[in-house]
Parts: sequence; structure tokens; C-alpha cells
Amino acid sequence: MALLEVKDLVTYFPHEKGKVQVVDHVSFTVNERECFGIIGESGCGKSMTATSVMQYHNEVGAKIGGGQILFEGRDVMSFGKKELQDYRGGEVAMIMQNTMSALDPLFTVGDQVAETIRRHTGAGKKEARKRAEEIFTFLGIPADRYKAYPHELSGGMLQRIAGGIAIGSNPKLIIADEPTTALDATVQLQYMQLLKKIQKQTKAAILLISHDIRVIQMMCSRIAVMYAGQIVEEGNTDEIMEHPVHPYTKALLEAANPHALKVDRISTINGQPPFLLNPPATCRFADRCANCTHRCHQQETGLYADNDGGHFHRCILAAEEKERNATENGKIEAFRIREHKAAI
Ligand SMILES: Nc1ncnc2c1ncn2[C@@H]1O[C@H](COP(=O)(O)OP(=O)(O)O)[C@@H](O)[C@H]1O
Ligand SMILES: [Mg+2]
Repeated sequence: MALLEVKDLVTYFPHEKGKVQVVDHVSFTVNERECFGIIGESGCGKSMTATSVMQYHNEVGAKIGGGQILFEGRDVMSFGKKELQDYRGGEVAMIMQNTMSALDPLFTVGDQVAETIRRHTGAGKKEARKRAEEIFTFLGIPADRYKAYPHELSGGMLQRIAGGIAIGSNPKLIIADEPTTALDATVQLQYMQLLKKIQKQTKAAILLISHDIRVIQMMCSRIAVMYAGQIVEEGNTDEIMEHPVHPYTKALLEAANPHALKVDRISTINGQPPFLLNPPATCRFADRCANCTHRCHQQETGLYADNDGGHFHRCILAAEEKERNATENGKIEAFRIREHKAAI
């Protein structure tokens, strides 16, 4: 069942010359107990998507330009103060990349975990402390760290504490935004295993955001690939790993692991993503794409179904090729499944 539904979300930063549209008609669903991943290179809008889902966009100076965010069918954008309080850090918990800035330097980490439990579950002080100690044990944090202050702990340990704060409220959804990026390689792997353990134990769904394909592959059953504010491919993780359709996904996978992929053409990602001030409706990857034709610069893109199994992509050429094959086989289908709305 759908826990979180994001529909046609648009988030932008006002600019003297228009709107910097950093999240552009993004739609995805996170089902109960599932781990859904968003992957894409730095600056493509992953964090702003999460920030919008949490309704923290105002705090960073961004505005929502359209769309809907539904949590258990409830319209998050219309939440009042109390509902928003229960939602943020309660029903939905976040684990950020930079834990140090999320923790309060003046309180011990144990007290901070206990405080989350108290605030969101209504537990008394004593009960919250007991539960916090149980969480420390569960997360493999030595008991003597309970009274430590954030600056006294290593990055890996702080990230575990962040996990503890996240699960303290019994969330239904955990949003983990680059949770391992600040950690070194060996600790990264341990942390992913810990996240898996958290998911198994708490039965929470996870929205995992990362630029690291290995992290996403290890955790997620379905993924969305983002480029320049848009989802360019979405589907089952194994299927996308085996049969990536969008040239950006192919390049991303090759860059991560050039030998393991069965893609027909090797290309590296040269150049930069476009600046998203009043972005065009045509393909945003065209300037960096080895396969690009004149049509890619002229024709609006949409999301096209690659199969009936929930695999979508945003490549006009791949959709056209598929349509040609289908037509030759006497089967004419409409591959454009979700129209790109004109820029707001
Ligand atoms: N305060 C801001 N003002 C203008 N643009 C911003 C601001 N914060 C982020 N951006 C832009 O929003 C885009 C998306 O950022 P973000 O969601 O943080 O990317 P990601 O998490 O994928 O690395 C980036 O291109 C970034 O430059
Ligand atoms: Mg980010």
C-alpha cells in the first residue's frame, strides 16, 4: 500500500529572472515497508525533493510551485501546526548526511535520543531513558556513550546516534539523505547493514537518497534516477541495473562499475547539468548525450513506459524505437504515459 505519494511536485527558488526549478514535476510512491531509492549526481534535486516532502522548503528559501504530497492519503501541504509536528520527526524521521549539525552540542547524545522518544511517543522520562538505552544496544553503541556529547564521538558513531533519534519516534517512514557519504568505506558498509537491521526491526519504509549506486543497489527494491530536477528513469532496481534505458542512467552505472554492466555503448558523462532557470521542456541531458539527435533539442519529453512492470524512462529516442518495433509487430501503443506539464 502507498505510504507516501508524491505527485507532480514542483519546487523552485525565486530568481530575479524567473524561477530556478530544482524539482520539476516529480512523481513517485513509497510503499509500506519498502526501501525506495533516489539516485543522481550532486545538484540534481534529491535533497530538495526530501526537503519538500518534509515541508522544510520555506526554511531554505524555496517555494512549492505545484503538485501534491500525500502521506497515508493525507495532504501534507495542508497540515496545520500540530499535524506537521507529528509528521516531522514523528511519523517521518530523517537521517541527514551531516549529523553533527543536526545534533545539539549542549546535550548528551543519550538525552537527545530519549527526548525524541518522549516528545513523539508520550513516554515519561524514565521510560524514555530505558527505551533509549535499548536503542543504543540495538544499534551497537556502547552503553558508556550515552553520556557523551556529540563532539566526543566519531562520524560513524554520530551516524548511529542519528539512526537512534530517527527510530526513537517509531516512524512509519525514514528518509535517509546521503546517510553514508561522510563516512569512510568500511564504516559505510556497516552503516548500510545497520539500516537494513533498522528496517527489519521497525518495519518502517525507507526513502534512501544517494549518489552512490552501490548503496542504492544494496538497499532498494525500486529506484528513481534524477537528472536536472526530473525523474529520468524509474523502476525495479534489478531491472534498471540489467536494462537501463535512459542514456543518463547508463552513463551513471558505467561510471560506477564499468565492467559489470551489459550496456551496448560506453559513454562517460562529460559536461555539467544545465542551470535550471526557466528550464526547457526538451531533454535536459541532450547536450551531454552521445546518442542525441536534433529531435532531442526540439521535442518535449514525457515519461514513457518501457514495459508493463513499472519501468519508465524519459528518453524520446528509446520510446520512438520501441514504438517503431511495436508498430512493425502490428501493435500500436501509446508510450507517453505522463505528459510533461509546461514550465510553471
Ligand atoms: N538556496 C538555494 N538557492 C538557489 N539554488 C539552490 C539553493 N539550494 C540549492 N539550490 C540548487 O538546487 C539544486 C538542487 O539541490 P539539491 O536538492 O541539494 O541537490 P542534490 O541533493 O541532488 O545534490 C541545485 O542545483 C542547487 O544549486
Ligand atoms: Mg543532497
